[in-house]
Amino acid sequence: MAIVVLLGPPGAGKGTLAESLCAAFGFAHISTGDILREEIRQGTELGRRVSACMESGALVPDDVVTAIVAGRLGQDTVRQAGSLLDGFPRTVRQAELFDRMLASGGMALDRVLLLEADRDLLVRRLTARRVCSQCRTVFNVIFQPPGRDGVCDRCGAELRQRPDDMEATALERLAVYEEQTAPLVAFYARRGVVVRVDAGRAREVVHRDACVALGLGVLSAERDGKGS
Ligand code: AP5
Repeated sequence: MAIVVLLGPPGAGKGTLAESLCAAFGFAHISTGDILREEIRQGTELGRRVSACMESGALVPDDVVTAIVAGRLGQDTVRQAGSLLDGFPRTVRQAELFDRMLASGGMALDRVLLLEADRDLLVRRLTARRVCSQCRTVFNVIFQPPGRDGVCDRCGAELRQRPDDMEATALERLAVYEEQTAPLVAFYARRGVVVRVDAGRAREVVHRDACVALGLGVLSAERDGKGS
């Protein structure tokens, strides 16, 4: 089972790349941001606990996200498919808890894929992102506009801006990344598991380079029992 962490600042394209890699290779996509937003949408107790925190651009507590990931990684289907973690770990404390979680489940981290992009581009991508209110398809009014303004191409529902994509909050999230998440690059580099991709280019190019960096042809073949 392959376990890959996608690391990178808000707007680097972690969710976009995770979607294309999962479609191509059958990984389970574990996005802590998506899971937390769904809790908020459903009005659960957890959603009520984390909504103010998320809307301000701050991180939710380490124990909350670690428990979520532990639950997902423990599912049989996820264990069989291999996992792409998108948005976790995000602090050194989370990375340490993740190590324990993997060790206790007899699992190991294969790679950390670092997505790197220019800060101005990140801000443009974030503030221009729109998400379908029904099917959650992601658009971008600059880089991937819908056919009709404000309307989802896939299901026809209204497109909305994430509250944390307003410029002031997006800038706060980038600051939080630099302070609390960027130290993970050195944390994982010391183990020799970090591979880097220039995420400032077109989606297809980022996808192709990520496949090469991750050696995904090899991982995919091994998973299917065809590896040498
Ligand atoms: P989360 O949802 O994880 O947000 P994020 O990490 O800030 O990442 P984003 O979703 O903003 O960006 P992305 O890199 O996935 O980019 P995307 O592919 O969408 O977290 C949200 C909040 O949840 C946090 O602030 C925190 O409160 C909480 N949280 C989550 N995990 C946590 C944790 N572990 N610990 C504590 N708190 C946690 O792309 C962005 C836009 O750019 C899209 O419009 C897309 O279409 C476009 N785009 C992407 N790639 C390209 C490309 N190559 N070319 C052109 N456009 C592109």
